[in-house]
Amino acid sequence: MSRIINISFSYKEYESLEELNADDQELIISARAAAGLAYAPYSKFMVGAAMRLESGRIVHGSNVENAAFPSGICAERTVIAGSVSNYPDDKPVALAIAAITEGGLPAEFVSPCGNCRQVIAEEEERTGRQIKIILSGKNKILVIDGVGSLLPLQFGRDSLRINHP
Ligand code: THU
Repeated sequence: MSRIINISFSYKEYESLEELNADDQELIISARAAAGLAYAPYSKFMVGAAMRLESGRIVHGSNVENAAFPSGICAERTVIAGSVSNYPDDKPVALAIAAITEGGLPAEFVSPCGNCRQVIAEEEERTGRQIKIILSGKNKILVIDGVGSLLPLQFGRDSLRINHP
């Protein structure tokens, strides 16, 4: 017999930066600064990602576009590639994402694309630690405990073992 399964998740929503703790405020400010460094001449949608590592270190990245459009890379994957290759043993604990458009800071938050969710999920698996995701807009900030809720029924390393017991 078929069954309907519901998947739900909770997140925290804030209306202003000042409502968050000092570490998370600092991370959002770093993500906004990183957005200012984006190379996005085609979309003009500049995205910044800032990640806090276990040691307290903050690393940042931004989207880097290309005339051959699919060769561009999102801010989230830039920051993860940078932190894994430079600080492989310093595990990420939080990731803030922010955008700057031609109109400035958008009121709405920016959410990671599907490719980036998959890469964040792999990083959580690699390190064995959840990464707090902070999505920020001017008037709304969302804090989510880990990427799992943004990527239910995810494909991960266990999926590969299904056919190779
Ligand atoms: N982009 C990101 O960097 N991160 C996201 O979460 C969404 C999209 C970039 C990709 C492209 O350079 C531009 O934003 C427009 O899609």
